[in-house]
Amino acid sequence: TGGDGAADLSMAFEAVPVSNANRVVVPEGYVTEAFLPWGTPITGSYPAYKPDGTNSGSDQEQQMGMHHDGVHFFPIDLKAGGNSSTEGLLVMNHEYINQAALHANGATGASSNGGVRPADEVRKEIAAHGVSVVHIKQDKNGTWDIVFGSPFNRRVTGGTEMEIRGPLRGYSKLATKFSPSGERTRGTLNNCSMGPTPWGTYLAAEENWHGYFANKTQGLRPREQVRHGVDGNSRYDWELADNGADAYVRFDVTPGAGTAADDYRNEANTFGYMVEIDPFTPESAPQKRTALGRFGHEGVIFAPVKEGQSVVCYSGDDSRFEYIYKFVSSKPYFAATAGGYLLDEGTLYVARFNDDGSGEWLPLDLSDAGFASKVTAAIGTTVGEIAFDGFDGQADVLLNTRLAADIAGATPMDRPEWGAVDPNSGEVYFTLTNNSRRTEEQTDAANPIANNRNGHIIRWKEAENNHVATRFEWDIFVFAGEQGTETVVDGEAVVTLNDDNIFNSPDGLWFDYNGRLWIQTDGRDEAPYQNNMMLAANPETREIKRFFVGPVGCEVTGVTGTPDMATLFVNIQHPAANWPDANDPRPRDATVIVTREDGGVIGS
Ligand code: FEO
Ligand code: CA
Ligand code: CA
Ligand code: CA
Repeated sequence: TGGDGAADLSMAFEAVPVSNANRVVVPEGYVTEAFLPWGTPITGSYPAYKPDGTNSGSDQEQQMGMHHDGVHFFPIDLKAGGNSSTEGLLVMNHEYINQAALHANGATGASSNGGVRPADEVRKEIAAHGVSVVHIKQDKNGTWDIVFGSPFNRRVTGGTEMEIRGPLRGYSKLATKFSPSGERTRGTLNNCSMGPTPWGTYLAAEENWHGYFANKTQGLRPREQVRHGVDGNSRYDWELADNGADAYVRFDVTPGAGTAADDYRNEANTFGYMVEIDPFTPESAPQKRTALGRFGHEGVIFAPVKEGQSVVCYSGDDSRFEYIYKFVSSKPYFAATAGGYLLDEGTLYVARFNDDGSGEWLPLDLSDAGFASKVTAAIGTTVGEIAFDGFDGQADVLLNTRLAADIAGATPMDRPEWGAVDPNSGEVYFTLTNNSRRTEEQTDAANPIANNRNGHIIRWKEAENNHVATRFEWDIFVFAGEQGTETVVDGEAVVTLNDDNIFNSPDGLWFDYNGRLWIQTDGRDEAPYQNNMMLAANPETREIKRFFVGPVGCEVTGVTGTPDMATLFVNIQHPAANWPDANDPRPRDATVIVTREDGGVIGS
């Protein structure tokens, strides 16, 4: 930023054209290199990646997982107040898996295998999910590599033991055979985006966790499953592992004849949270922070912290017609003592976007008289598909966050994905990726497009620019779409998309340390857009330029940089084929390192 306080947000690079090539495209003067592809050994005995797919489940527990997503670079000296740009901990999510690529000959399905799945395939699939912490360092030639043997190198998987924290810890509806007291669980799943906390830890989001569980009950399932779509089948049939291990059987959440402590009817209630991992304390158990609500968390973004004031963070629920939430801590932030405990007590709000450009944060808290009276009024009615008979307390409200938000009167959005907070203006941006099911009658000012195939980006400013405020003013930053798509403000087109910046389905979103906004896409990779991409934007002028195009079939999701912005890390998820190594028949999710030939600031 300039000495006068005005940010230098210039973008001097030449926009790259759309591309359908099976490679990464960046502007002239920039260099890219694939790094940390799926299967790269990062810990333990560092078992080598086998291109024939024969790595075991145990090997996978020591290697990079699949489907790289949200990622953050923590400078190695962060805890000492430093900001190294040459050494740090790169922490990233592995959202889900490509079973065909994961195993030597694809997955062995239960239907062709006597109704069971080989236990080591299940172990490997669970291990390919979760989070990787990788200690990385740049050598004197500027090449990044893993620090082998570093105590920080770590895998957290779909099986790692973790603690439940916040209001749902010990709640009867989280009691399982594994933890009859409802205080612990195993694993984190479908980790999409993330958020670095102001105290140097990492929050991984649990997004489409519902698909991993099967409830074979005929007829009515509990509302805390129904509202998320848990049904009779699980995505990967892990509960059918042929060794009958408790760690796998738990994905069958059908109630048995005994009590909740005898089976896994409540296992799905231990998923749907933001999960805190302290990368600098490798022996620490991850912590599920339940005060932030239980839903399809895409990620989380923190507002800048101020000494003595509440911590505030925002999280979207990425499903059609779901909501945007804000958490405000009860306890004040002090840099010297800040920690995850700040996320255990506070108020969860949900957003209402009024048609006049104003907005309100609605508390989901039974101690709020307004919310309590809406809950009372809803008893005996049908909310969505659910016959509502009340909440048995605040823990029940949080367990059923979506239902509580329905009752509060939140605005159903066009699939909220990532959020970002402008470091210069304090405005909050969220991608609304698309919503092909919105009808004309369902449109409103914040979601104004029926059959919204291309998505848009919304932003707001909290009242008095105070993130604790319960009112805000919003506008639409940009509508995505083809050439000529306009974003109109007061009768004037403030953006008209052209060849340099057409895009659809904005998803990843990040403000870099200088205040440029990075927009990533997970959309239709067809003409005129071609492969998914990343664009840079100036939040003040709304200038948008395509900076990066990914290989065939991928989504571009997850971006972070070194503090000096001389290195950018961009994740490529589910490439279609032969990438990054044209000689390897298995597509491998990977991180792309972007640098400039002259060592300058990326995007400037
Ligand atoms: Fe995993 Fe909403 O993207
Ligand atoms: Ca996403
Ligand atoms: Ca997406
Ligand atoms: Ca994805």
